[in-house]
Amino acid sequence: MRKKVTVVGSGNVGATAANWIAAKELADVVLLDVVEGVPQGKALDLLQAMPIEKRDCNIVGTNDYADTANSDIVVITAGIARKPGMSRDDLLNTNFKIMSDVVAKAVAASPNTILIVVSNPLDAMAQTAFKQAGLPRERVIGMAGVLDSARFRTFIAQELNVSVENVTAFVLGGHGDTMVPLPRYSTCAGIPVTELLSKDQIDAIVKRTANGGAEIVSLLKTGSAYYAPSAAAVEMAESILKDKKKILPCAAYLEGEYGVNGLYVGVPCKLGARGLEQIIEINLTAEERIALQKSAASVQELVNVLGI
Ligand SMILES: NC(=O)c1ccc[n+]([C@@H]2O[C@H](COP(=O)([O-])OP(=O)(O)OC[C@H]3O[C@@H](n4cnc5c(N)ncnc54)[C@H](O)[C@@H]3O)[C@@H](O)[C@H]2O)c1
Repeated sequence: MRKKVTVVGSGNVGATAANWIAAKELADVVLLDVVEGVPQGKALDLLQAMPIEKRDCNIVGTNDYADTANSDIVVITAGIARKPGMSRDDLLNTNFKIMSDVVAKAVAASPNTILIVVSNPLDAMAQTAFKQAGLPRERVIGMAGVLDSARFRTFIAQELNVSVENVTAFVLGGHGDTMVPLPRYSTCAGIPVTELLSKDQIDAIVKRTANGGAEIVSLLKTGSAYYAPSAAAVEMAESILKDKKKILPCAAYLEGEYGVNGLYVGVPCKLGARGLEQIIEINLTAEERIALQKSAASVQELVNVLGI
């Protein structure tokens, strides 16, 4: 039997995630939204691309959670996105209500599912999903680090004029201005980038990475990034669906790891068939540890506002 992935929210990120899943022939896709007609129309359109792309995926659009029953994975992109001048945190209260509603219905229809949370502010929304779902932490994972590290990798590859395939990069912490890019653990063909780029070059790349989402929001003016965010969520889904056991930076519910307890923060995670299979603890310098704690504190502030 083919795997089944539900994508909740058929806006920019959700519809593009459906597109990547189908293009990679990872699973059948159910696209769900509160708006009538849009998920149905986008699903039908994408389905009609399958003969051209030579992919056998069924793609269904719906407003009814009954159609999502027994999904292996539910990717949640429902909610409002940023506009110029808005921070991710400005989305907090609206997206909290949406997330709570979506998770209750999605988990009722698919009690064995794994949730990948995408809606912002990411870490607080992952925490909301975790508390609402009542699932073990292995099955509620947030997407941010894969995107942030992809941005970091892009800029490193550009600066070095090398293939993006040569570049790995690590970004820890919450998905926001306090994220913690780690140049020491970022490499080109196995060589730490700290050996290949000057401090000034690295500082500029780190700054652009942390500002990566806002740079795109200010260009688009009517929405936020979606090609790379959806590709990032689908890389996580692929690692789970194929039990690849990739180590990816994801938002996970920490229970003492990195000195953080009871909070979603971005850390290196092994993703396989059981979802979050391991949190990898790496050594941090005192400076990096302080930056991570600062990032966790800003997630905690939002979680406190929500009282969850
Ligand atoms: N984690 C990340 O790195 C990251 C990156 C990019 C975007 N995002 C976030 O992802 C979310 C989606 O972004 P987008 O650009 O696709 O926005 P969008 O406005 O294009 O799409 C959001 C969709 O959610 C739907 N929706 C609203 N309430 C719903 C509900 N209760 N149930 C089902 N669907 C509902 C809307 O109708 C809309 O179609 C935003 O919160 C954005 O900030 C996160």
